[in-house]
Amino acid sequence: MDLQEIIDDIYLALQPRLGEGKVADYIPQLAHVDPRKFGMAIIDLDGRIYKAGDCDEPFSIQSVSKVFTLTLALGKHGETTWNRVGREPSGSAFNSIVQLEHESGKPRNPFINAGAIAVSDLVLAGHTPKEAIAEIVRFVQYLADDPSITIDPEVARSETATGFRNFALANFMKSFGRLEHPVEHVLGVYFHQCALAMTCTQLARSGLFLAANGKNPLTGHTVVSSQRARRINALMLTCGHYDGSGDFAYHVGLPGKSGVGGGILAVAPGRASVAVWSPGLNDNGNSLIGSLALEMLANRTGWSVFGAPAA
Ligand code: DON
Repeated sequence: MDLQEIIDDIYLALQPRLGEGKVADYIPQLAHVDPRKFGMAIIDLDGRIYKAGDCDEPFSIQSVSKVFTLTLALGKHGETTWNRVGREPSGSAFNSIVQLEHESGKPRNPFINAGAIAVSDLVLAGHTPKEAIAEIVRFVQYLADDPSITIDPEVARSETATGFRNFALANFMKSFGRLEHPVEHVLGVYFHQCALAMTCTQLARSGLFLAANGKNPLTGHTVVSSQRARRINALMLTCGHYDGSGDFAYHVGLPGKSGVGGGILAVAPGRASVAVWSPGLNDNGNSLIGSLALEMLANRTGWSVFGAPAA
């Protein structure tokens, strides 16, 4: 199987559709991104890399960061993390507040905004917000083995200035006694993690440990146990695309996490880590063309967690 040929074919086939979907416009830094951008990078377990399009241009990873902060929180707090956040798909929008009241301020899963805010609170334990943000950046640099990864300060500032709904979510959780730190501190961490700027190549590298039983085959670092890697993958599969998670599992069949910047990190366990970027979003806030690209990749390679690939 020639992965470079496959990724080139996908890029070519999607060319006429680039620009489809709706670019996130709640902050100018996202609204001004060229909707025709498209990047894709695949890294296999031997470190071979296959690239297409704008795969070395940094974009705002937004909610894809929730995979990394969850990994960090699990490393710090272990299974007690689950006292603070659940593991069930929400079936509602990423920024929904409705379930929180019924469930006494305990978010459904770590990938909806409320859940990621609870995870930020866990990452803050024992730290100032500045230290926690620095720890997240260092962790992502370590995962990707790339010290050049940074946060876009303009995006972080704009997230803070426009994050009324996230403030509502955090204050609501605080009212249930579900956050240990001040709301401003927790959201400071959350907004900065969302503002991480990464390329598809960097993102694929940083997800490689999830495809390789918890150990990054490029660096030799054991990031998490194989059981934890499987479990993070399970959460990505069931919750990584919000109320579009079922559809993503149906069409792509791989654990994945999306962000409103148009990025998706997908994991083919035992095979590869894949990152795709296309800014136009579908109705669920997931990259429209990015999801299609991953569906085409899954069809061509046979990669799926639901069945053996065709011989
Ligand atoms: O919290 C927000 O609204 C954004 N900073 C990030 C949300 C996000 O990426 C959701 N993904 N589809």
